[in-house]
Amino acid sequence: MTLRERPDPVPGAGEVLVRTAAIGLNFADLFVRSGAYPRTPRPPFVPGMEISGTVEAAGSGAPFSPGQRVVAVPLFGGHAEKVVVPAARVFALPDGVDLVPASAMPVVFLTAAYLCERAAVAEGDRVIVTAAAGGVGTALLQLLARRRARTLALVGSEGKRAVVDAFGVAASGTYDQAAGLVEGVFGGAVDVVADAMGGGIFRRLWRRLAPGGRYVLYGFAAASGPRGVAKLGAARELLAMGFLSPYEVVQSCRTLIGFNLSLLPDTHGELRRAAAEIFSLWQNGAVRPVLGPSFPFERLPDAHRALAARGTTGKVVIVVRGAG
Ligand SMILES: NC(=O)c1ccc[n+]([C@@H]2O[C@H](COP(=O)([O-])OP(=O)(O)OC[C@H]3O[C@@H](n4cnc5c(N)ncnc54)[C@H](OP(=O)(O)O)[C@@H]3O)[C@@H](O)[C@H]2O)c1
Repeated sequence: MTLRERPDPVPGAGEVLVRTAAIGLNFADLFVRSGAYPRTPRPPFVPGMEISGTVEAAGSGAPFSPGQRVVAVPLFGGHAEKVVVPAARVFALPDGVDLVPASAMPVVFLTAAYLCERAAVAEGDRVIVTAAAGGVGTALLQLLARRRARTLALVGSEGKRAVVDAFGVAASGTYDQAAGLVEGVFGGAVDVVADAMGGGIFRRLWRRLAPGGRYVLYGFAAASGPRGVAKLGAARELLAMGFLSPYEVVQSCRTLIGFNLSLLPDTHGELRRAAAEIFSLWQNGAVRPVLGPSFPFERLPDAHRALAARGTTGKVVIVVRGAG
């Protein structure tokens, strides 16, 4: 990635030009940079899924006006000071919400909310969350607590446990402690697994799913290495997931759910309604973004490196100069 000057983009019909205040970094941005994300443009291109900022101009038919504060999910192009986004992926911010933390909200909370719905998480459910101290993980812990689920938060290192314990989880631990914790805390089985990693951990956790259980596989972080997606490592982790026999899925009454928010059809405006609900929960103090390390725009590649190195907790945010 290199920093370059480009002409200001111009919004077309149904599009909005946003002056960026902050950029929410997503793990998927690492996959985009490696060319491993669906619909990634051919290089050279500007990556960047998620921003907050102020509307500078709106094309015809786009229901926004200059000066409006928004968050937006352009999927690509968001690592820039000015970004054109289709109006359908721009969400007005309520008053009193700061632009920098707002950039940490849409993707992680929309993902976590959709996951809870699809897995039909109910009060008392025993739930495992992998990568629990990360962006989506910390959003999930909050929404699961609201549903009164009992959560086992799994993390990559002991040092991350303090982050997840702050959300009142039933238990926390590292991946190699998972089996013992499921035995000790949940009596040996769980109702829901929310897994952003895949690879070897998938095989181990799938075995722990009770009859009627739902396994949500919504990411493949295990495919990533310190410099992005490593093909050989990804192949190894895919093999480690093992073979899932349809016969076994049927007889054990378990469900495997997969989804990618960016590829979901949004025919009835569900995303906009879900976003409004999340911002209202935030305003009421019911949920909050968990901010991780923040970087200035000029050091954006360092933000990518930090996320890939697996040392961050919460949401990594990039602040654009003069904004906030
Ligand atoms: N399906 C969807 O629509 C959707 C939407 C948003 C995000 N996601 C997925 O959700 C996951 C979390 O995304 P996020 O943006 O919030 O990132 P994040 O959780 O803040 O960071 C990723 C975390 O994944 C864990 N991890 C496991 N294996 C890793 C590896 N080989 N290299 C680096 N990290 C690894 C690390 O936590 P530990 O060290 O604690 O394991 C790391 O902190 C990602 O898998 C992402 O692709 C999916």
